[in-house]
Amino acid sequence: MRRQFFLFFTTFFLFLAFSSARTLEKDVNQRVTAGSLQQVTSFGSNPSGTLMYIYVPKKLSAKPGIVVAIHYCTGTAQAYYTGSPYAQLAEQYGFIVIYPQSPYSGTCWDVSSQASLTHNGGGDSNSIANMVTWTISQYDADTSKVFVTGSSSGAMMTNVMAATYPELFKAATVYSGVGAGCFYSASNQVDAWNSSCAEGHVISNPSVWAGIAESMYSGYSGPRPRMQIYHGSADTTLYPQNYHETCKQWAGVFGYNYDAPQSTFANTPQANYQTTNWGPNLQGIFATGVGHTVPIHGAQDMEWFGF
Ligand SMILES: *[C@@H]1O[C@H](CO)[C@@H](O)[C@H](O)[C@H]1NC(C)=O
Repeated sequence: MRRQFFLFFTTFFLFLAFSSARTLEKDVNQRVTAGSLQQVTSFGSNPSGTLMYIYVPKKLSAKPGIVVAIHYCTGTAQAYYTGSPYAQLAEQYGFIVIYPQSPYSGTCWDVSSQASLTHNGGGDSNSIANMVTWTISQYDADTSKVFVTGSSSGAMMTNVMAATYPELFKAATVYSGVGAGCFYSASNQVDAWNSSCAEGHVISNPSVWAGIAESMYSGYSGPRPRMQIYHGSADTTLYPQNYHETCKQWAGVFGYNYDAPQSTFANTPQANYQTTNWGPNLQGIFATGVGHTVPIHGAQDMEWFGF
């Protein structure tokens, strides 16, 4: 009888020791299956309930970069994963792609509430930033290679991420968005549509725009992401005036003279696109005849990010 008890307890304690070691290993190194889109359900604090999806390439770099790729209204992580070139590029360059997914019906992003327009304010921007810091620690990522991009509402959020978390990102590419804070909701509504901004009626100067971006992380004086802004001249969803306002905003932030760009190139990177450089940290690309949204230029993005 005593011998049976002894055996029982030994087995029981061995089982306990084994299972706690396994739990520990999982917490320390919670990595997902490579080569397909995977949801991550636990990445730290998620104040706005944003969903996190991730693509880890089969050919992951030893110290990988990260690209956050943010979908448009009505989009999903899955739709942006299949409809954008970033997963294929991840296989080529070894970086990880994070595809956040909006928690709201209609899946626009919250670029209107005070919470989302503030560093650690508890909105979508805060949740996305937490996805980035989780990925950096889980994959021992290279913090000098963390980038953000998006289309339409995702482009608006890209500008908001650049303003609220400048310390996280090295560069950003914006496909047909509006300046950070332009979709502001006077009644502090979450995920609001702002038609005066969308229709290009919110017009200001570089210093006012810069002040709006800088106030999203007040007191911050460190480096900021290099900004690349695409917009189509025939955009009737987010009127092309938003191109000029966004470029004014970042020119103001970087202290460039908006009225005197350093260089302009016609038909660059393709026919009817004009590239304007205000300085090393700001490039605008205005696509004549192109509507909403400018197609993603994957190869140019890689160049802008420095892969
Ligand atoms: C739309 O945004 C502008 C700032 O860009 C703001 O002045 C205006 O009040 C906003 N509209 C609404 C309905 O909140």
